[in-house]
Amino acid sequence: VTPPSVDVLGYGVRVAAGSVGDAGGIVGGAAPAHTYAIITDANVGPRWLPSVMRSFERTIPDVRVVSHQIRAGESEKTRATWSLLTDWMLSVGCGRDTTVVALGGGVVIDLAGFVAATFMRGVPFVPIPTTLLGMVDAAIGGKTGVDTPVGKNLVGAFHQPAAVLVDPEVLTTLPAFHVRAGMAEVLKHGAIADRDYFNAASAFASAVHHALEEGSSFPWSGEEAGEIIARSIAIKTGVVARDERESGLRQVLNAGHTVAHAIELATDYRWLHGAAVSVGLVAEAVIAERSGVARAGTAAHLRTALDAAGLPTRLPTDVSPEALVAAMHTDKKVRGGRLGFAFLSEIGCVAGSTEEGWTTFLPDRDVRTVLGDLAIEGSSLPHTGI
Ligand SMILES: NC(=O)c1ccc[n+]([C@@H]2O[C@H](COP(=O)([O-])OP(=O)(O)OC[C@H]3O[C@@H](n4cnc5c(N)ncnc54)[C@H](O)[C@@H]3O)[C@@H](O)[C@H]2O)c1
Ligand SMILES: [Zn+2]
Repeated sequence: VTPPSVDVLGYGVRVAAGSVGDAGGIVGGAAPAHTYAIITDANVGPRWLPSVMRSFERTIPDVRVVSHQIRAGESEKTRATWSLLTDWMLSVGCGRDTTVVALGGGVVIDLAGFVAATFMRGVPFVPIPTTLLGMVDAAIGGKTGVDTPVGKNLVGAFHQPAAVLVDPEVLTTLPAFHVRAGMAEVLKHGAIADRDYFNAASAFASAVHHALEEGSSFPWSGEEAGEIIARSIAIKTGVVARDERESGLRQVLNAGHTVAHAIELATDYRWLHGAAVSVGLVAEAVIAERSGVARAGTAAHLRTALDAAGLPTRLPTDVSPEALVAAMHTDKKVRGGRLGFAFLSEIGCVAGSTEEGWTTFLPDRDVRTVLGDLAIEGSSLPHTGI
């Protein structure tokens, strides 16, 4: 069987079960270098770095491979860690002929990507994502960066990877709540682009959820997992290829994210991003239906699919609609005091047009009313998954 492979923006995204064991050949072919600097974290390193190292030694024995393990977690995605990593690369003699490899989730990818973008004014970068979110989102599109005390992702650069190596098998060691959180972005990709794929991804997500519930191992090396992941990546790459620097179309990837970011901010980031996106997709679809933008039934369809995937679909209990609206005012999409949303018009289609843009703007009062009604319907507990 030929592994699914998506090629976009001049770099290959290779999706193949077991490919971590061929990392040396794949990375070496896509980004030849004298030194490979592999950056990973304390959860991923012990599990997956040895097989990556063995593969480099086996396939390209003459090159130098150095690795560095950072602590795990969003709190490490800082300028301090960036400077620690660049100092480490300098101290071990990395030069312009170095390729940076990220082995980890979105945190390691964003950070290592920013290191690659800036080290000696830019060296090649190859992410090997180890979370579902990393595979379908963070590794795709070329955005790199770090957080600051003022906000997330405020310092960074665009730096397209030389290749992306996706091995679904690494998800066997990923904690269940991170698997579900990644599924929210997979379903978002279906919702903005392809109704049939949305339904297939929804059936897949529910099968994954059931396996996780029963504590049985999910067959991540199976063909279906590879296909679902590859299609999700193709949707994101398709959008990014048409709008690499986020001037227009790329906004459609923000579906569900105005409400999601507000939830994250208002709950002090106690919610996992994917869980907040799940609630955001449903809440924004209700707002879109009430505004006459989305077809009736869109929100109900989304809620059924996200519920079946074990994701939350109700607003947090401990946050008022007023607090959410206030948090939304810090969103990048605010224009002229009105709140911006990347709405769906139905499952598989986004609302908007090339002329008018892909963002719909609404006054506070319309948004607050709908959020108030949703809050009465019932709420989710804080969804950290722990
Ligand atoms: N650049 C982009 O376009 C983009 C897009 C989306 C998200 N992001 C960023 O991604 C980050 C979130 O990424 P994430 O959800 O992958 O978080 P993460 O990198 O923190 O990974 C989640 C947790 O899982 C652990 N882990 C990762 N892979 C594992 C595996 N295979 N087995 C066991 N444990 C594993 C990690 O150590 C961590 O504790 C955020 O910082 C976000 O801003 C970036
Ligand atoms: Zn997201």
